Amino acid sequence: MNRVKIDFRYPSFLREAIDSEEKYLCVAAGRRTGKTYNFVMWLIEELLSTPKLKGLHVDTTQANIVKYFDRYYFPMLKPIIHLCKWDKQKYVLTLPNQSYIDFGSAERPENLEGFNYDRAILNEAGIILKKESLWTNTLRPMFKGEHTKVRIIGTPKGKNLYHKLFNRYKSFKFAAYDSPFWDKKELENIKKEMPQQVWKQEYLAEFLDNEGVVFRGISECVTNTTLLNKGELGKPYAMAVDLAKHEDFTVIIVCDMSNRQVVYFDRFNNLDWNYQKQKILDAWKKFNGAQLIVDSTGVGDVVYDDLVRAGIGVQGYKFTNSTKKSLIQNLMLSIENREIKFPHIDTLITELETFEYDMSASGNIRYNAPDGMHDDAVIALGLANFLMPKEDDSYVSFI
Ligand SMILES: Nc1ncnc2c1ncn2[C@@H]1O[C@H](COP(=O)(O)OP(=O)(O)O)[C@@H](O)[C@H]1O
Ligand SMILES: [Mg+2]
Repeated sequence: MNRVKIDFRYPSFLREAIDSEEKYLCVAAGRRTGKTYNFVMWLIEELLSTPKLKGLHVDTTQANIVKYFDRYYFPMLKPIIHLCKWDKQKYVLTLPNQSYIDFGSAERPENLEGFNYDRAILNEAGIILKKESLWTNTLRPMFKGEHTKVRIIGTPKGKNLYHKLFNRYKSFKFAAYDSPFWDKKELENIKKEMPQQVWKQEYLAEFLDNEGVVFRGISECVTNTTLLNKGELGKPYAMAVDLAKHEDFTVIIVCDMSNRQVVYFDRFNNLDWNYQKQKILDAWKKFNGAQLIVDSTGVGDVVYDDLVRAGIGVQGYKFTNSTKKSLIQNLMLSIENREIKFPHIDTLITELETFEYDMSASGNIRYNAPDGMHDDAVIALGLANFLMPKEDDSYVSFI
């Protein structure tokens, strides 16, 4: 076999973890610190140094496997790639010394069965180990030998199985600041732009108790007031409407502008536009022709235009990932700072409590209700909050 040299160069902060002889090792680190890149390199180096070793790379999705093959494996193996074989159907990479790497994903655990591997990396462990059975039924039985080395790497995602394994086995934890691949100034900017919980988890690699929880301090905002049927004479009100699109609800929220208190709440799932319009107009009249804000995205557009034609002053709010993020983050601040108040409205409180965020692979935060739940009341409250001036009016823009 031709001797071609591949330069395996690891950043010094990972050196001890890379060199470890432990069977199981966890490396929890912030985003883009170099986890995947360097443990892919480790896997290749280990397999090239001994013939006929069986390697395994487990990732989140099949698409990510292809991505890591193209971006990491292929360039790293470039000097010897003509001596390797990549089976695109079966996702097997065979190296020139007959060592090979099987690739599998949490998306298709049924394809991951029956082999006893010598070396493995479990990438994005915080995500793939959300399903405990993937570890207990599928992966764990594949690592029998004492000589086996399994590297469990990823950014924490709450206290799931990854956290348990992190505590059970030899582990390392690195913040984004530890990595030479991050610019410290850039990190400072990111820190300022995001909610502290997200920052702690995604960049400081902390295992948080309430991962995904968006609104903190909800109960402190609950008052023992009752809702009103109509506004008090001469008082200014703010009214926000999230319109039902498909299977969701239309929510109307009215707030007393003087104390930022919710005084009216209505929720219904009648998709008939005339019905919705009538409800909106009725509430608007009862609350002294309140200042009005309406979701004007997509379907809402027509509704918004129609309200404009009805001659009432209405402001539209177009939702994009970025405007939704800013609306939610302003509401998060208002709730944390007790700058908005509401009586005990079950639906509203449940929606606020269950509302979640997640972070895409590219680092974008997305806010949503969990699968099968609604967020119409949260959105309506966010819109009302957006419409009302704050005392010191120090709105933070997160966009
Ligand atoms: N050893 C290395 N040499 C050169 N660049 C590296 C190295 N390790 C990481 N990087 C750079 O850092 C980026 C992020 O690394 P990656 O391992 O994908 O991060 P993580 O898995 O921690 O999110 C890589 O795309 C690459 O540009
Ligand atoms: Mg990674």
